[in-house]
Amino acid sequence: MKRFLFILLAFISFSCSNPQSRFSESSSKVQLVEAKNGMVATAHPLASKVGAQILEQGGNAFDAAVAVQFALAVVYPRAGNIAGGGFAVYRKANGETGSLDFREKAPQNASRDMYLDKEGNVISELSSFGVLSVGVPGSVDGMIELHKKLGFLTFEKLIQPAIELAEKGFVLTENEANKLNDYQKDFLTANDSSTYFFNEEKWKTGDSVVLPELAQTLKLIQSKGREGFYSGPTAQTMLAEIQAKGGIITQADLDEYHSVWRKPVEGNYKEYKVISMPPPSSGGIALLQLLKGSEAFDFAKLGHNSAQSIHLMTELERRVYADRATYLGDADFFAVPQEMLLDSNYLAKRFSDIRPDHKTNSTEIKEGKVEIIESIETTHFSIVDKEGNAIGITTTLNGNFGSKVFVEKAGFFLNNEMDDFSIKPGVPNQFGLIGAEANAIAPEKRMLSSMTPTILEKDGKLFMVVGSPGGATIITAVYQTILNVVDFGMNMQEAANAKKTHSQWLPDQILYEENGLDSLVLKQLEALGHVLIPVSAIGKMDAVLVLPNGLLQGGADSRGDDTAVGVK
Ligand code: GLY
Repeated sequence: MKRFLFILLAFISFSCSNPQSRFSESSSKVQLVEAKNGMVATAHPLASKVGAQILEQGGNAFDAAVAVQFALAVVYPRAGNIAGGGFAVYRKANGETGSLDFREKAPQNASRDMYLDKEGNVISELSSFGVLSVGVPGSVDGMIELHKKLGFLTFEKLIQPAIELAEKGFVLTENEANKLNDYQKDFLTANDSSTYFFNEEKWKTGDSVVLPELAQTLKLIQSKGREGFYSGPTAQTMLAEIQAKGGIITQADLDEYHSVWRKPVEGNYKEYKVISMPPPSSGGIALLQLLKGSEAFDFAKLGHNSAQSIHLMTELERRVYADRATYLGDADFFAVPQEMLLDSNYLAKRFSDIRPDHKTNSTEIKEGKVEIIESIETTHFSIVDKEGNAIGITTTLNGNFGSKVFVEKAGFFLNNEMDDFSIKPGVPNQFGLIGAEANAIAPEKRMLSSMTPTILEKDGKLFMVVGSPGGATIITAVYQTILNVVDFGMNMQEAANAKKTHSQWLPDQILYEENGLDSLVLKQLEALGHVLIPVSAIGKMDAVLVLPNGLLQGGADSRGDDTAVGVK
């Protein structure tokens, strides 16, 4: 990949000749984006434009989602992907709902204790770095299935914008240049040698990235569909890379990978119907537990980010995450007691010991100690078209740039999703999450996720599409964003930008965003016994709200380059 160009592109022809004429776009992140004929909110301005252009060309929300997924694989390589996985939750304009699970799977040769040494101790980083951390990728199969069932335009047309971005190049934003620079050492270590994304001179804002090998791979997918990735040259190149470095994925794993249509988790929060992702994501169940538990409290009266609100949310969260650790895993392998977890009597009892003036300790359970939580990356996008079709997709390589292994000849990073399994009961993963039998490794099992693409209805009509990256914090970020709109009366952009907190049972602490809480609130929470840890960011929301007059309002998180593009 030596021929990559480190040049400054004056302009990328792809990035719209005159976008202002057709689209409205949020760049300041303070300005609200509203539009009548469609809204696309993603982590990257170029991907949002791709989605809006597909809508403009007569594609529906599902077409736009396929195009955005492939565009993000080019312009947002830290989380956008073709060798990762994800979940889609959709609602058609006629009210029909569904979800697609294109989560990665454990390879057939995986085994329960594969990340433990002879003494039964966890081998550091084996599940999160390098080829042994890679799960069998699901994204390409997922996009093909999504298109087959719900698409309108041809698949060839939907993948074309990504091919052009990879071929002609795109310019790095400051955030993306910084992110690449943060991982330079890891790229060298994981790839045994210099690799495209390793840049001795450091990446700079405005540098051009050109990915001809990825363009070639995308062309194979364009012409051959699933076979363009799971067999033939792409598969051979990917397997050669994995197996040469001691990985265990085989052609049989690729042949056997299939995404699965699943019945979404559905329930009510106040007058809203919540439609979210079922196992193997924990997101839908945990979100509904949190929302149902919230009905007992008047958060609007207690105030946004007041000590009382945060205390009560934290108390709900620690109980919900304790359930997550014990009961949630891939329901194809473990009997997840979904009905019981969402049963009103169960939840009433579960939350009955919450006290407004007393913190519950989690210390009787072995502490899940996390020294440094790796930057928590995944990406979510939300799309609504002019007919009212809606889709939220959360997709990931797991950590930033996944396993850090870059398949040089095919132009993409491999995921490190195996770390989302419970590699040993009680031992935390990179997000500090612990698990047990429900999420133990087994061949062809899907690892438990926190990804929470979610749709809300009000009075039988589409109300919101929402989701976030952030590992363990995804669920709590989505939860707070919903409360921000429903209970605190924020618009979609304010709700996305609002400072958030997070608690997950173990470790027994509250994460809060730096400068996000005032000092009195911090003191009040400390007085209740809470341990407060500042972090740089919690969640990165991309969401769409449908206003009573039918206008679509975008929410694109100010924590990143996230952009909402509306079709006028
Ligand atoms: N890889 C993060 C998640 O699925 O929750």
